[in-house]
Amino acid sequence: MVLLEIEHVSKHYKMGEITVRALDSVSLNIEQGETVVLLGPSGSGKTTLLNLVGALDRPTEGLIRFNNADITRYSRQKQFSFRRRAIGFIFQTFNLFPTLSALENVQYVADLAQMKKSKQKSIEALTSVGLEERMHHFPHQLSGGEQQRVAIARALVKKAPLILADEPTGELDFRTGKQILQLLLEQQNNNTTVILVTHNREIARITDRVVELHSGKIAEDGSPKNGKVPIEELRW
Ligand SMILES: Nc1ncnc2c1ncn2[C@@H]1O[C@H](COP(=O)(O)OP(=O)(O)OP(=O)(O)O)[C@@H](O)[C@H]1O
Ligand SMILES: [Mg+2]
Repeated sequence: MVLLEIEHVSKHYKMGEITVRALDSVSLNIEQGETVVLLGPSGSGKTTLLNLVGALDRPTEGLIRFNNADITRYSRQKQFSFRRRAIGFIFQTFNLFPTLSALENVQYVADLAQMKKSKQKSIEALTSVGLEERMHHFPHQLSGGEQQRVAIARALVKKAPLILADEPTGELDFRTGKQILQLLLEQQNNNTTVILVTHNREIARITDRVVELHSGKIAEDGSPKNGKVPIEELRW
């Protein structure tokens, strides 16, 4: 079943005299339960595309359907409830609330989604990323990698149908990075769709489908160039 239909999506930013074409007529379908890596160099439009799919922003042209509904026409209120219900975000900069503990950061999102037993579910999500010992710490008491794991727990806690992960391993050491990739891949078992952004071609090898962006356009869409590898064998 197709979950996402991205049709001729462009995003242009007007900066005084110049127009930056961050995305230029991108078309793409993504199936429910698929794990897709979005690969591309810095500035190629990866974050811009995630922001549009997550209804944080609107395209200049084109449309995006999620379960057949055009999310680009949603009102602000509908965008908000769509994000709350359907999207687990892992931002490139983690965006934790500095005055909330790790547990409170996760539970905040669970409460927004009106989940029952939100505290219990938040503890489970933090445990799944190996932070059960750290959940009462504030972000400034956590290393960069631990903060990133809180951000990942926050994205997983809702069990949203779509996870948008922007360079989730950027701040992590190799071993922790592999655990997080494993966790994201396992979301396939719940039929969760994951879009994983990276600029690293080796990391892209964890999945069957790599979509490559160059200067806001899709340059490739297919299996990883050097073949898929099990996470244990991954080196970067
Ligand atoms: N709010 C904005 N206003 C103006 N230009 C922007 C804005 N956001 C992004 N851009 C520009 O759009 C292009 C794509 O940016 P984007 O953040 O999507 O790249 P990216 O692929 O995520 O890069 P990175 O790997 O460095 O995170 C860049 O040239 C960037 O400077
Ligand atoms: Mg980016």
